[in-house]
Amino acid sequence: MPELIPGLAGVPAAESAVSFIDGQKGLLAYRGHPIQVLAERSTFQEVAWLLLYGTLPKRAEFDGFREQLGTRREIPERMYDVIRALPGNGHPMDALQACMASLGMFSRHTDFRDASTADEAITRILAAMPVMVAAFDRIRGGEDVVPPRPELDTAANFLWMLTGEEPDELAARVLDVALILHADHTMNASTFAARVVASTEADPYTVVSSAIGALTGPLHGGANERVLDQLRDIGEAESVEAWVDGQVAAKKKIMGFGHRVYKVKDPRADILQGLAIDLFEKLGRTPLYDTAVTLEDEVVKRLGDKGIHPNVDFYSGIVYSKLQIPIDLFTPVFAMARTAGWLAHWREQMVDNKIFRPAQVYAGVHDAEYVPIDER
Ligand code: COA
Repeated sequence: MPELIPGLAGVPAAESAVSFIDGQKGLLAYRGHPIQVLAERSTFQEVAWLLLYGTLPKRAEFDGFREQLGTRREIPERMYDVIRALPGNGHPMDALQACMASLGMFSRHTDFRDASTADEAITRILAAMPVMVAAFDRIRGGEDVVPPRPELDTAANFLWMLTGEEPDELAARVLDVALILHADHTMNASTFAARVVASTEADPYTVVSSAIGALTGPLHGGANERVLDQLRDIGEAESVEAWVDGQVAAKKKIMGFGHRVYKVKDPRADILQGLAIDLFEKLGRTPLYDTAVTLEDEVVKRLGDKGIHPNVDFYSGIVYSKLQIPIDLFTPVFAMARTAGWLAHWREQMVDNKIFRPAQVYAGVHDAEYVPIDER
């Protein structure tokens, strides 16, 4: 009988060249490029290409990709009917999952092994994600959908569609960097889900909608919403110490801390913390930031030896709320970014694909007797 490894911790599920993490050193790289360099010098759209196709794009390649990402924001008109039919008080992640599955129904293609069909689907999916998130938010708020603008980058267009206001340059750049930071992260739960579905040769819309479902959980993408709720519950920085004592004594998890792979501070948390500070300089400091910094100190003091440090979700909520993104859109924003990684893994899975069919350790009974219903 094979040994069961809960959560498949440490078990390789695929060979991948998309991203790399060294959890002891706090290193994350996409296709060999350290995340710090990409956050400083690249854009989300360029990073998406890098993840998908393996190298930094040449000028002509990038211009074509960027143009398609812009024009393919025009989703089928009936997609807006789909969004209007969804309950406005439902979670936007559920809406996004339903929208992605629906969008796939408008695709006439079946052979996604054909390179140009695959490329077309990739830009349609990447372009549609932010459009569907923003449209759901506008429609549930009783507002008109703001038409997309093809000339804007992904982040700037999203802020434009969300608010109908010309996006602030710093706000757009900060969101763009946040998208870069969330674009891929090796074999996490949603990427694994994407690869399992990809291995059945399902279409990429189904692959992405399945991954969106996997990202909803509070132990994965859903944690960023909980972090902000947690900071609001704690309140002032002075209340942090007693609150942390209570959580540790009760052995309760503190949201935004801990990671299966990182045993030091997540490098993305450092970059997001820097972005939060940049935003405060321009838009004013938020009191929750002081609470967050004190919380980091107090948690690391008590649990740092166990490798518990802030993860990517810890500062992302503070950044997003400063950008006036509603709390329940935090995870959809994560999904908008991670779609680049999911699709890169979909492409990779398609090469030498073998359908996932793991084993199990059977823990049930054998030779059970069938007793007729009235005799049980
Ligand atoms: N707060 C307090 N203690 C934590 C903790 C946290 N956020 N994360 C882990 N620990 C402790 C556990 O209680 C456990 O302690 P024990 O050995 O005394 O029982 C130990 O650290 C190992 O935790 P475990 O949950 O087994 O680690 P994991 O690798 O399976 O889980 C996470 C990783 C991310 C699921 C986990 O750290 C977590 O739930 N974090 C909070 C949610 C979150 O921020 N998720 C976003 C991830 S990017």
